[in-house]
Amino acid sequence: MSDGSVFGVYPPSPEFAENAHVDGARYAVMYKDSVETPDAFWGREGQRIDWIKPYTKVKNTNFNFGEVDIKWFEDGTLNVSANCIDRHMITRADQTAIIWEPDDPKTPARHITYRELLEQTCRMANVLKAQGVKKGDRVVLYLPMIPEAAYAMLACARIGAIHSIVFGGFSPDALANRINDSEAQVVITADFAPRGGKKTALKANTDAALLHCSDKVKCLVVKHTGDQTTWVDGRDIDLTAAMADAKPYCAYTEVGAEDPLFILYTSGSTGKPKGVVHTSGGYLVYAAMTHQITFDYHDGDVFWCTADVGWVTGHSYIVYGPLANGATTIMFEGVPTFPDAGRFWEVIAKHKVTQFYTAPTAIRSLMGLGPEWVEKHDLSSLKLLGSVGEPINPEAWNWYNTHVGKGKCPIVDTFWQTETGGHMLTPLPGAIPTKPGSATKPFFGVKPVVLDAASAAVMEETETEGVLCIADSWPGQMRTVWGDHERFQETYFQQYKGYYFTGDGCRRDADGYYWITGRVDDVINVSGHRMGTAEVESALVAHPKVAESAVVGYPHDIKGQGIYAYVTLMKGEEPTDALRKELEAWVRTEIGPIAKPDLIQWAPGLPKTRSGKIMRRILRKIAENDFGALGDTSTLADPSVVEDLIANRMNRV
Ligand code: WTA
Repeated sequence: MSDGSVFGVYPPSPEFAENAHVDGARYAVMYKDSVETPDAFWGREGQRIDWIKPYTKVKNTNFNFGEVDIKWFEDGTLNVSANCIDRHMITRADQTAIIWEPDDPKTPARHITYRELLEQTCRMANVLKAQGVKKGDRVVLYLPMIPEAAYAMLACARIGAIHSIVFGGFSPDALANRINDSEAQVVITADFAPRGGKKTALKANTDAALLHCSDKVKCLVVKHTGDQTTWVDGRDIDLTAAMADAKPYCAYTEVGAEDPLFILYTSGSTGKPKGVVHTSGGYLVYAAMTHQITFDYHDGDVFWCTADVGWVTGHSYIVYGPLANGATTIMFEGVPTFPDAGRFWEVIAKHKVTQFYTAPTAIRSLMGLGPEWVEKHDLSSLKLLGSVGEPINPEAWNWYNTHVGKGKCPIVDTFWQTETGGHMLTPLPGAIPTKPGSATKPFFGVKPVVLDAASAAVMEETETEGVLCIADSWPGQMRTVWGDHERFQETYFQQYKGYYFTGDGCRRDADGYYWITGRVDDVINVSGHRMGTAEVESALVAHPKVAESAVVGYPHDIKGQGIYAYVTLMKGEEPTDALRKELEAWVRTEIGPIAKPDLIQWAPGLPKTRSGKIMRRILRKIAENDFGALGDTSTLADPSVVEDLIANRMNRV
């Protein structure tokens, strides 16, 4: 095999391959089946989960712009909560389903068995029913990383309600937008969310959000820290007390395979975040299958995905995939550096974690603090490591491999998206030799194609570069944008006709390995979190002193990309450091701390074409501190603007 990178090729060890669910030979056969005879392949794989009424149709999908329609297992019925809990009761009632590791290591961890998970989920489902929540209704979850978050997801699924989780780092405005867009009638929150020794006032944020929502919205509050909060009688309900009073059993509701399971808002290149809709049958099959095969999960393993349930990674690989497989899954409330930089490794040693799945940004920040934090802890339980969220740079890959995996654990670099429901490109640990920095090969059923960005021609040669599209549907694919099927088609199927467009660029090497090169649209990836530059821009221009703004990403050592904002002030406004701070705080309240610009440059003018279009390519170059080759600037209305921007650039590395 050709090298493809200076960092070498790492084949699966024979011992790992021997015990793995899928080895190299099997991957080849199964992959061929999955793309050549998808009905037969997925007809078999669909049996991973329990159906109330079995499906007779498997795949019914259309990628043609104007007629996009995606259905899997469409005439089958099921219940997702029953699949994640009830069906394990015969064999696993006393097995730990969730290990909850609190923010403060002095607070004892909790082991929640499948029996307890059933009881708590049922209690919460009964509380929701008592509030009038029915099949198809939306429930917004704005919660810390506590077991109640999993109970709430599964309680919604149990009664056929659609959950929409809003990450606890989002602001009241962002929360209100999501409640309103989904027309939710219930919000579930908690008093406070402890993280890294600090507390976020979730209830107070929810109070602020609800000022902008229908007064019919009810607020269920988990008493987590027990600290005092404000209380609106008639609207707020003590969920902890209500669950204690509720009946411990609730029958599950039969739903269709294509009934929505959840909505998850995510950033795109234009407009407001869109509500990505995932449905019940196909999503669960895909989450369960990828969890088992990519991570080579076996009975008795302890699986830890460090994501927050507010992101898709938490949906698929903390809750739905692992629980559908009857796994033991860890839910961690804290952060990697609290109370010290050894926390991840301490938790791995404490709970004897076998598979560990995290993001490159976390690895890079811990790498900077030195290997001694890792070496203090016994990591001998680990069998496999995973990475997700952005390309992993080979230096971080090597550190992860050497210091965490001790050279013995395969690393699965999983490329996927909120829209895809589960892994798209990933090494299978017993089957595919890895190369640091490459997400390697497609998962079963996934047909990647590389297109020329400009001409949309399919690049047939093995070794090539272009934009990454997918030629056919897979069961975990999103079905629509909530309330806006047109936007769904325009975003993913319009630019490259007949294909699903990922928004990412990629390179394919001589061995057919895929290397993601990053987003080709106006989406940036900050610490593995997706951010639309348009969102940050509209937050900035909403400030009374801001006339205009353009936001781009720039390379950042820890975060992968940082947020670089060019800001033109209203006439007569002074560009001061105080105003810079004010704008940072403004964006935090408009969107949330994750959207705070890292660098703000005062721009007397922005480079525009004569037709008034901002030339982002130039702004990106200046932000990257790479202004030697700005390309053609002759179409600019006023070329002198660029000189000023270069002279006053903020990123002088
Ligand atoms: C990026 C997270 C390279 C990519 C699951 C994608 C990656 C976006 C990888 C989706 C990876 C995710 N290698 N890039 N292994 N994983 N990405 O929706 O740009 O939050 O389009 O889903 O993250 O981010 P999202």
